[in-house]
Amino acid sequence: MHYERVLVTGASRGLGAAIARELASSGRRVLLAASSGEQLRARAREIEAMTGRAPGWHAVDLRQPQGGRELVAAAKAELGGIDALINNAGIGWFKPFVEHDEDELADVVALNLLAPMRLAHALLPEWIERGAGYLINIASDLSRRPLANMAPYVATKFGLLGWAASLHREIRGRGIKVTTVMPGIIDSSFNNGIEGTRDPRGALRTAELARQVVGLLDTPPHLVVDELTVHPVDGDY
Ligand SMILES: NC(=O)c1ccc[n+]([C@@H]2O[C@H](COP(=O)([O-])OP(=O)(O)OC[C@H]3O[C@@H](n4cnc5c(N)ncnc54)[C@H](OP(=O)(O)O)[C@@H]3O)[C@@H](O)[C@H]2O)c1
Repeated sequence: MHYERVLVTGASRGLGAAIARELASSGRRVLLAASSGEQLRARAREIEAMTGRAPGWHAVDLRQPQGGRELVAAAKAELGGIDALINNAGIGWFKPFVEHDEDELADVVALNLLAPMRLAHALLPEWIERGAGYLINIASDLSRRPLANMAPYVATKFGLLGWAASLHREIRGRGIKVTTVMPGIIDSSFNNGIEGTRDPRGALRTAELARQVVGLLDTPPHLVVDELTVHPVDGDY
């Protein structure tokens, strides 16, 4: 199996939890990360009931500068190494730019943009040495499309695509894959939604999107999907 040990951030609910379920169902070993230990414990129990094997989990606030290194160390201790990292944790608010307070501006950049960089920064030297590894970043179709009332969030998603695509070119030829996933609207609880309540033609089901994301790990070694854009068929794109 390709990429057997996988670290997933934002795995306590929404898309990240669905990715963790899909990874565990495919027989992979997974470490779930988010800031709420209680929710992670519940997800881990659910996965254990489903697969017969309890996944590891680690509660960490990835907005904090040391969060990335702490999480990589915890995942290595739990899994014995990391073959793939799925940077999925993200936050954002739908409101005018000036209604964001300064902490919100710092938080959205720290979690959506700096945390993926910090995690990759902690992992890449070893992957380069090994000549293997897979970095998947969950960005957004807003990585290329401006949207009023989500300016700080959109800035981080443009940034995530720019960073990942540039890094990809920098390390091309070293055996490491990088994919930026750019979904349209997801039927999750992001930004005050209620997960699982929307029409699948207008909002992506987390389990269906997770299957597309985890499928990337099974692509042939000589092929890389550098971008994956996924929309609900009747979505606004
Ligand atoms: N929802 C959409 O329409 C949509 C569309 C395109 C792209 N996306 C992107 O897809 C990804 C997943 O979104 P989603 O809709 O599944 O979101 P979600 O349901 O709100 O889940 C977000 C996850 O991030 C974790 N998280 C939040 N703050 C954190 C922190 N400080 N440290 C560590 N983990 C933290 C949350 O757990 P805790 O709260 O316990 O920390 C949770 O597990 C995000 O990157 C999002 O930007 C979403």
